[in-house]
Amino acid sequence: MISGRGSNMENLIRASYKPDSDIDIVLVISNYKNAPGLKIAQELGVETQIIEHGKFESRNAFELQLTSVLENARTEFVCLAGFMRMLGTNFVNHWHNRLVNIHPSVLPAFKGLNTHERVIEAGAHYSGCTVHFVRPNMDEGPIILQAITPVRSEDSAIELSNRVLKLEHECYPLALNWIAKGQISIARGTVRLTESDTHNITEPPDQSSKKRI
Ligand code: GRF
Repeated sequence: MISGRGSNMENLIRASYKPDSDIDIVLVISNYKNAPGLKIAQELGVETQIIEHGKFESRNAFELQLTSVLENARTEFVCLAGFMRMLGTNFVNHWHNRLVNIHPSVLPAFKGLNTHERVIEAGAHYSGCTVHFVRPNMDEGPIILQAITPVRSEDSAIELSNRVLKLEHECYPLALNWIAKGQISIARGTVRLTESDTHNITEPPDQSSKKRI
């Protein structure tokens, strides 16, 4: 689910086309009809839907429609990729442990918007990104994967965000493939990565066994 430019979405779609991928991106939903990511998804051959939150009388009605469309597409797993709308408890609980987000900071530090400006303002020495399962509170949930980059004294927010975005593009497909390969478990709010021999796979997996995202 996206709201804007969709670089993470594009990166995930491209990653899903690699022979060793276990993910199949079946649908991209945007809550903004002009989101640039929509065209990118279409060009890459992925179905898109526009579900504008402003056209619904309540958040719950909007989110019921999201779930209905996702389930009609037989989606097994939902990724937020720059989806700029808080999701309510009903939606989050419905997709419990089947809903992930990427955030451009090293959570639990710097939740929320304008992350890079606030990181620089705070004088933090490191920033980065976090892929995490979604829980009802904003930018909270079991952490799957993080990566960090130093914050340089001369960094602008744009320079820092560009470096963090490169990390995002490495982390998100990696985390999703771990999930799709069944290598992730969650116990007491903490994610564990289990050993697997999937690295030895030399043949592309059967398309039918892919996780529908
Ligand atoms: C990314 O920085 C992501 O971490 C945040 O929103 C931004 C979306 O960028 N949640 P894009 O639309 O994927 O390019």
